[in-house]
Amino acid sequence: MKMRHLLCAAMLAFSACIPAIAAEPVEAHLTVAKEVAGPRIEPEIYGHFVEHLGTGVYGGLWVGPESEIPNTRGWRNDVIEALRRIEVPVIRWPGGCFADDYDWRDGIGDPAKRPVRLNRWWGRVPESNRVGTHEFMDLVELLDSEAYIAANMGSMSPMDTSRWLEYMTSDSDSTLAKERRRNGRERPWRVKYVGVGNESWGCGGNMRPEYQADLHNRYATYLHDTLRVASGDGQRDDHLVEVLMERSGAHMDAFTLHYYTIAGEWEDKGPATGFGLDRWAKGLESALGIEERIVAVSGIMDKYDPDKRIALYVDEWGTWHDPAPGSNPGFLQQQNTLRDALVAAVSFNAFHRHTERVKMANIAQMVNVLQAMALTDGPRMALTPTYHVFDMYKPFRGATPLKATLETPRWREGDIELPAVDASVARTADGRVVLALANLDPRRSARVRTNLSGAVQGRILTADAIDAHNTFARPDVLVPTPYSAGGEGEALTLELPAKSIVVVDLPR
Ligand code: AHR
Repeated sequence: MKMRHLLCAAMLAFSACIPAIAAEPVEAHLTVAKEVAGPRIEPEIYGHFVEHLGTGVYGGLWVGPESEIPNTRGWRNDVIEALRRIEVPVIRWPGGCFADDYDWRDGIGDPAKRPVRLNRWWGRVPESNRVGTHEFMDLVELLDSEAYIAANMGSMSPMDTSRWLEYMTSDSDSTLAKERRRNGRERPWRVKYVGVGNESWGCGGNMRPEYQADLHNRYATYLHDTLRVASGDGQRDDHLVEVLMERSGAHMDAFTLHYYTIAGEWEDKGPATGFGLDRWAKGLESALGIEERIVAVSGIMDKYDPDKRIALYVDEWGTWHDPAPGSNPGFLQQQNTLRDALVAAVSFNAFHRHTERVKMANIAQMVNVLQAMALTDGPRMALTPTYHVFDMYKPFRGATPLKATLETPRWREGDIELPAVDASVARTADGRVVLALANLDPRRSARVRTNLSGAVQGRILTADAIDAHNTFARPDVLVPTPYSAGGEGEALTLELPAKSIVVVDLPR
């Protein structure tokens, strides 16, 4: 037995460590064609979502200018530096459910005079409004990103949203533009995307789709010079998609899908760590289901928008586990393991396969909430395995997906049977072929034979334990390591250890 398997065996009593089976790897075949499979992979597919929820903003991103934690105008430097490395293309804010309970006027002007409100959705804790429009737009600029403002359709009027937009984006001498200048911002900001409500079928107003469609049209009438994003499906509700597309298609530029991966049931999501193979399989089955939902929603959109003018934004996606033991359940804090990393990889691969519609996706959420990029505790920070997948997939941004056929064996756990290998291939603007491969099988390694040739370099993310994760004490348990395969003039075959993600690059 190799050393790492001995270690793994020793750890079995304490964690979900699954020793790889020493048997021959399973065989998969990947045939990559020269033809493109769809339009380019928009960088916004690697977008983010930040909500005033738990420590997602306060503590996780914002510590305030007076803090001893090193910061730039209040935004913590360690997190900002890490986020810069993964090049955040777009940030959706301020919610989520919070957005439909948010009055933008609470978050401007002298911070000392801003009202304190109750965050009714998330823990009923006081919301200081210390982070408001100016601070959020500063974060957007610090990260060289785009703003996606989620506007309140549930509890405010269209005029409130149009005035918020005028405040942010007007270069004129209007009273609102002058107020912005008095509050410290001379130049207008750019707001590229505006969400018209959020989950209007639920926390955004409990509306019937028919009512929402009328309301959407009314709100969208007063939105100028931004992309209008309609609140969409999150409950596998085909009727809602039909109604919105039919009645509001002319008044939207994008329609949204929310899709959460749950390794169990809504009432029994299961722990983020210390789970068994049943929850591993359930989680990945749920993650793979995102593609079926994208296909179903796109199919309905095609009926009303055959030219595909309207984009599909998956503006909330990611894992949702039981809250971390001892944490406030309203804060949605959870650890992030190798399983979450695989969920991210298969989700990206699914987005890449549907670039004709999917033009943006926003992981829920950026820091400390649900499937986060980073976890913080006071001055300490740990990057998550999901962060590393975002980093590994960077070469796919702006690349064009190539047609590929994958023959993969399947594996089984209880009643669940899943493919072992999942793949994505694309051609970058400078002509390189980028290849991502995930082996979902927790026990067997996979040998992937391809019709490509040459030597590839890249990175691999893998571990012995299915719940391997990074902590403040051990932040580097799960980090990508160098990977190479093939040789000059040789047929390219890649060996994937059990439960691993590999991203490689074929030079031109
Ligand atoms: O991301 C957490 C919550 O999930 C969001 O506020 C809401 O839109 C969704 O139900």
